Amino acid sequence: MSEDHLSYPIVYAEWDILNNLVGDLSPSSIFVIVDENTSRDCYPLFQSKFDHAHQCIQISAGEQHKNLNTCEVVYDQLLQFGADRHSLCINLGGGVIGDLGGFCASTFMRGFDFIQIPTTVLAQVDASVGGKLGVDFQGVKNMVGLFNHPEMVFMDVDFLKTLPENELRSGYSEIIKHAIIYDHKLWQELCSTETWSDNINQAIIQWSVDIKSRVVAQDFKEGGIRKILNYGHTIGHAVETLSFDMEMPLLHGEAIAIGMICEAHIAWQFGLLELSALEGITEYVIGIYGIQAEYLQDVSKIMDLMKHDKKNKGDQILASLPTQIGDCTFDKAIDQALVEKAFLYYRNQ
Ligand SMILES: NC(=O)c1ccc[n+]([C@@H]2O[C@H](COP(=O)([O-])OP(=O)(O)OC[C@H]3O[C@@H](n4cnc5c(N)ncnc54)[C@H](O)[C@@H]3O)[C@@H](O)[C@H]2O)c1
Ligand SMILES: [Zn+2]
Repeated sequence: MSEDHLSYPIVYAEWDILNNLVGDLSPSSIFVIVDENTSRDCYPLFQSKFDHAHQCIQISAGEQHKNLNTCEVVYDQLLQFGADRHSLCINLGGGVIGDLGGFCASTFMRGFDFIQIPTTVLAQVDASVGGKLGVDFQGVKNMVGLFNHPEMVFMDVDFLKTLPENELRSGYSEIIKHAIIYDHKLWQELCSTETWSDNINQAIIQWSVDIKSRVVAQDFKEGGIRKILNYGHTIGHAVETLSFDMEMPLLHGEAIAIGMICEAHIAWQFGLLELSALEGITEYVIGIYGIQAEYLQDVSKIMDLMKHDKKNKGDQILASLPTQIGDCTFDKAIDQALVEKAFLYYRNQ
């Protein structure tokens, strides 16, 4: 079990602890939410280890289904299967299942208990920790949602064995992010292996989760330090959104990789970050994600998208910028001139 920075346990691969907790909760009924991929790839392992009778609810995979229509499907099934306020929901899947399943469990009959079992790297090190739940609405990500805690987050790296390599690599960028904003030692560890994929193991996942938990525990509602988790995401989100209309949309972590380099460059422009640290970040990140300069062509559209980031205040675009590897500041106002210089730097790698 991990250090307890939050009010709920985060458990790694110890299925007895999960089974015992569920026994202690003694829910009136148990629902396991899956999508077609986690039903095929993750449910067999779950079923072989989980001791309690349950009912599966399957939804369609993908961000395009993370909406209120899918919630209705889930509510409908919960009603049909006779769920009540003492039921338990187990969300077995990536961030989409976790956010949507947690939202449904928190709202159906004003909420019943739920457990997160994240099965992607991104969901393990990021989405399942921190209590943010919700769905997209009218094309805006995570527009409708709430903060709520699960009874437990349970992870097993064995689930990751079936994850496609591009999804593994995408999720890995959040691990890199955690190292850059918070932990120089983790950064050194990441850089010490021959390939990035050597770092997809329980020790590193646990380390990364611990960082996120520590940050969130200090600032649950994101009034201050929690914002450092947005490093790479001010530019990265805009680039990701723009890429949805392109031939090859970027995965979230691929866009965040671009964002991390560009925002590190902006930190350097401000004199916050030393050149050697900027170069270290650039070299490592490009070594894994390559250079995707074609996604940075339309600076004005990217600026427009950044202006609509819900983390801004007034007209200012605010970013979280690293001050050294292992430390980060937040609420720094950035403008188009800084962004253009950063893009130029990225393109010239
Ligand atoms: N709540 C938060 O704090 C938070 C933080 C970051 C991201 N998110 C959300 O997380 C979502 C993205 O999460 P994601 O990247 O996990 O996406 P996802 O849930 O869409 O999963 C990616 C794909 O992998 C499949 N999959 C999942 N586990 C698998 C496995 N073990 N083997 C094979 N295939 C598997 C899924 O079916 C899906 O097709 C976004 O909606 C984002 O908003 C939330
Ligand atoms: Zn992210």
